Amino acid sequence: MKRRGFLAASIAAAGAACVPLPRPDGAGLPAIAGGRTVPLSAVRRIVVERGDPVLGRCQYVADTGTVRIARPILLAQRGDRFDATIENQLPQPTTVHFHGFTLSEAQDGAGFDPIPPGGSKTLALRVRNRGGLYWFHPHPHGFTAEQVHAGLAGLIVVADEEDAALDRALALAPANRLALSISDVRVANGVVRPYAPSAEDCHTGWLGNRVMVNGALGARYPVAPGWLRLQLLNACNARGLLLAFRAGDLPVPFFLLGTDGGLLSAPQPLDRVFLHPAERVDLAIDARTHRRIEAISLEYDPRLHAPPGPMTMRPHPARARFPTLAAENICGPAGARRAGEVVPEGERLELFSLVVEGEPLPPRTLPQRLSSLAEATAPLDAGAQRIRLDFSEQHGFLIDNRPYALEEIAFGVERGAREVWEIRNSPISMPHPMHLHGFGFRVLRRQGTFGPARALATESAGRLATDLGLKDTVTIWPNETIWLAADFALPEDADFRGRQRYMFHCHNLEHEDGMMMRNFAVL
Ligand code: C2O
Ligand code: CU
Ligand code: CU
Repeated sequence: MKRRGFLAASIAAAGAACVPLPRPDGAGLPAIAGGRTVPLSAVRRIVVERGDPVLGRCQYVADTGTVRIARPILLAQRGDRFDATIENQLPQPTTVHFHGFTLSEAQDGAGFDPIPPGGSKTLALRVRNRGGLYWFHPHPHGFTAEQVHAGLAGLIVVADEEDAALDRALALAPANRLALSISDVRVANGVVRPYAPSAEDCHTGWLGNRVMVNGALGARYPVAPGWLRLQLLNACNARGLLLAFRAGDLPVPFFLLGTDGGLLSAPQPLDRVFLHPAERVDLAIDARTHRRIEAISLEYDPRLHAPPGPMTMRPHPARARFPTLAAENICGPAGARRAGEVVPEGERLELFSLVVEGEPLPPRTLPQRLSSLAEATAPLDAGAQRIRLDFSEQHGFLIDNRPYALEEIAFGVERGAREVWEIRNSPISMPHPMHLHGFGFRVLRRQGTFGPARALATESAGRLATDLGLKDTVTIWPNETIWLAADFALPEDADFRGRQRYMFHCHNLEHEDGMMMRNFAVL
C-alpha cells in the first residue's frame, strides 16, 4: 500500500474497531471487548513485525497455527502454560518482556539476552499471577522507547476465581468488559509522526498530542446500560494521566476495583485516579443512566522541577549498528518540538468514548468484598534497601547516581527475604514511575508528598487509593519518599533455581533508555 493509503486505512479503522468478539474457546476465559482476543495457551508464535518502514509503525502478531491475529489481546487463566516462539522481524534487536509476571530471568525478557534481527527465542512459561491486566513489550536497552512507541505493547488479561466471581456479580454484558491500552502519539496532517526525540523529549520523556487506544485514534466503544468493567493500561512512553469520566459536563463517579496485580479487597469510590506509564487500574462504572461517557485526562500540576538536562543528544551506544524503525533519523533535527505536536504534561487530553446503547439492564449491587488481598504490613527485616532517584545536569535522571550498566549488579537480595525498600525522589526532579521486575509489592507509606498527589492521599500513611492494591510500578513524586514491601519467595511451582537477575527502573521510557535503571540479583 502507498504511504497515504496505509495511513488513511489505519486511521479510518480507528473509530470502527470496537465490536466485541465472541467468547473465545478457552474454557473459563472472560469475554473481553476492545480488540481481538486469543487464548494465550493457543498461541504458538509471536511475530514482532514492522508494518511500515516509512513511519516505522510495528505490531505483534499472534499465530495459533490456524489464525494470525495482529495486535491481539491475550487471555489466560491463572496456572496456564505458554509455550511459543518469538520471531524478531525488526531491523533491530528486541525482547518480549512480560510486565508484572513472576518469571525466571530467562523468561522475563528484560534485555540481558536480546533477540537479534531475524532471530527467534523459545518461550516456556507459566502464568503464576493473580487475575488482572498484565502486558508485554520490548525491553532491549537503548531501543525500548522507540519500539514501544512504534506500537509494540500487548495486553494479557489473566482470570482467576475471584475475577470470575466479580463478573458474575455484576452480570456484565459481553461488550461491557474492556481491556484498553492508552498511549499518546504526535499526529500532524493525519499522520502519526515517527519517533525522533529531541534533547527536551529525552528530559521529560516523549509526549504526543493525540491518544491511541489499542492502536486506534479517536476510539469509541459501544456498551450496554449496566455495569462496565474497564481494565486500563497507561502504555504512554512518558505521560502521566489523571483519569476521569464525564457525561456532558457532569463528572461520572467510578469505583477502583484493582491495580497492577489484581483486585483490591474492597472497591474504592473515586472521581479521579492517577495512571502513570506501565500502571494499570481496574474500574467499575454504572452506565445505566448515561447515554455517552467520555474518558479524559484532567489538567494537573505535573511538578516538573528539574532544570533541563544535557542539551546535546548522546546517541545510545547499543544503537550504533542498527537502523531506526522509521525512515526519519532518531538523532536527526534534535531541535525544539514542533508547534502543536505536543500537549504538555498535565494538560487536559481526550482519551476515548463509551457510547451507551440499548435497554437498561437490571440493577446489580457491587460486591463489598472483591478479593482476599490482605492489608499491607511491614515485614520484620525492614529497611533492606535505600534507593535514591537523582538528577545531574550532566547525565539527567539516574538511580543512586549511577548510569545503567548491563553487566553490573547493584545489589543482591536473599531468596525468600521479605524486604522493605525506601525510595526517595529528589526535590529537584519530576514524577518517576518506578517498576520492579518479577515481584509484586505493597506500598506501605508515602512521605513528603506535595501537589496533586497529596490532594488524593485519602488513605492511611499518606497513601493513594491505588496504593491499597498489589503493585509492580509506583510513581514517586518530587521530594517524596515511599516505603514498599516485597516478598522474594521462590514461587511454589518454580521450574528454575539459582541466581536470577532482574531490573528496577523508571518506566518513563526515555529515562529508562537514558540509563535510569539498575540490575539486582535474587540469590
Ligand atoms: Cu514494563 Cu522493565 O518494564
Ligand atoms: Cu516489567
Ligand atoms: Cu523517570
